[in-house]
Amino acid sequence: MKSRKIYIFDTTLRDGEQSPGASLTPDEKLKIAKQLERLSVDVIEAGFPASSPGEMAAVRMIAREVRKPVICGLARTLEKDIEACRRALEPAAKKRLHLFLATSQIHRQYKLKKGKKEIIRIAVDHIRSAKKDFSQIEFSPEDASRTEPGFLADVTRAAVDAGATSINIPDTVGYTVPREFEDLIRFLIKKNPELGKKVVLSVHCHNDLGLAVANSLAAVLAGANQVECTINGIGERAGNASLEEIVMAIDTRKDFIHCSTGIRLVEITKASRMVSHLTGMVVQPNKAIVGRNAFSHESGIHQDGVLKKRQTYEIMDPKRIGLSGTQLILGKLSGRHAFKERIAKLGYGRLNEEDTVRAFRQFKALADKKKYVFDEDIEAILENEIGRIPEVWKLEHLKVSSETGKKPHAAVSLSFKNKIHAADSGGDGPVDACYKAVEKIVKSGARVTHYGIQSVTGGMDAQGEVTVKLYVSNHEVTGRGTSTDIIEASVKAYLFALNKISARSLFPGEMPSPV
Ligand code: KIV
Ligand code: ZN
Repeated sequence: MKSRKIYIFDTTLRDGEQSPGASLTPDEKLKIAKQLERLSVDVIEAGFPASSPGEMAAVRMIAREVRKPVICGLARTLEKDIEACRRALEPAAKKRLHLFLATSQIHRQYKLKKGKKEIIRIAVDHIRSAKKDFSQIEFSPEDASRTEPGFLADVTRAAVDAGATSINIPDTVGYTVPREFEDLIRFLIKKNPELGKKVVLSVHCHNDLGLAVANSLAAVLAGANQVECTINGIGERAGNASLEEIVMAIDTRKDFIHCSTGIRLVEITKASRMVSHLTGMVVQPNKAIVGRNAFSHESGIHQDGVLKKRQTYEIMDPKRIGLSGTQLILGKLSGRHAFKERIAKLGYGRLNEEDTVRAFRQFKALADKKKYVFDEDIEAILENEIGRIPEVWKLEHLKVSSETGKKPHAAVSLSFKNKIHAADSGGDGPVDACYKAVEKIVKSGARVTHYGIQSVTGGMDAQGEVTVKLYVSNHEVTGRGTSTDIIEASVKAYLFALNKISARSLFPGEMPSPV
């Protein structure tokens, strides 16, 4: 069966920007528009130019600099809105005017206070007048899914006769359900067979009931040939249909949907991260396609299956959307197979069976306490528990004073080969003071290249876990320390890294003795 082309109309920069708290500067909008171009969307709805001078400037800048997709501007059926789109889209290589007017009974009665005939007249008049300047005009009967189907067919027919080249059917309030929406699209096509063929038939679904993607796909199955969507599904209230979900569903289920898009799948992850970063809207971890967990497997049974054959538990290849690959999250549900695989990846493939079993037991004990077990944890288990890292430097005593307005001060004593060495130092902060005091004793010359802290468990008595990376003799080593006192955890992490340095003989000869 021949695959039907579905146009992807991206409205991240218009409806997506209507997400509460997601406003973007013109430069940020341009950056996203350029990524959407790399993603190969067919249409970019760049904004609503009449809404503000800044928005007008942003749409104009995108129209000037983004040349491959059609650039679209939104307008109410008002001459001033159409004029704002004319000006904003003037430099575009390809442009489209998107006119909308509400058609449902509730909007006609309470918002517009207009009858059916007047609604049709307003739509037709504005499409006709805009036709002089726009060869592409999209018309949206707002709240279409709650409009009487017969009236919807009349309005859209009149819009096409007046010159609209695309008809968009919005489920403005996310009210419809897939079967109903599919029937509506079939009905409209029956009434006007040009829809979905000579005239683009588009859908624009909101996610109030979590059905935006399902409703959009139902419409595609019924004959719609354009889907309006946003990256990460951002948008007014609960958002819009998410681009990545629509595109990957069409691609993954082409055997059933028999359609295709022109999207460059490999750019999806980058687009998602960029939009999340610039809008400040965090992607939920379990979000389909682009959530942090979308290609992560935690249960031992799943991990074992994926290692034997990825497709046992994965319907899409993460590499196709720009990820580096499948992620096996090592946690309390992981099995020996995944653990062995990971330790081999970390360079401990030649560990004997007895050490592997011991390390696996340690790993399970840690996984019971911690949410995630990172590679550094496994390295620590392997190196520490299997006895590769002797604790040559050990924290004996730590006293830190830190007062508002005063420079923090630390007094540290460490033991080295059964001898105690003490030093004290000031610092920019309490951790800095401790590290300086430690360095006065150890004199490793190490440079801290990373310092991170997180809680190991929940609650007020959570253990703080500090990760520190030290750079010395062209090597970077990671140390970790855990304690309910984060300063102590910081010193332990530093000493752990120093002990690793010593064990790996990164110093010429032995670890220098304190003088
Ligand atoms: O949700 C909606 O109805 C819209 C229109 C402007 C298409 O965003
Ligand atoms: Zn919308």
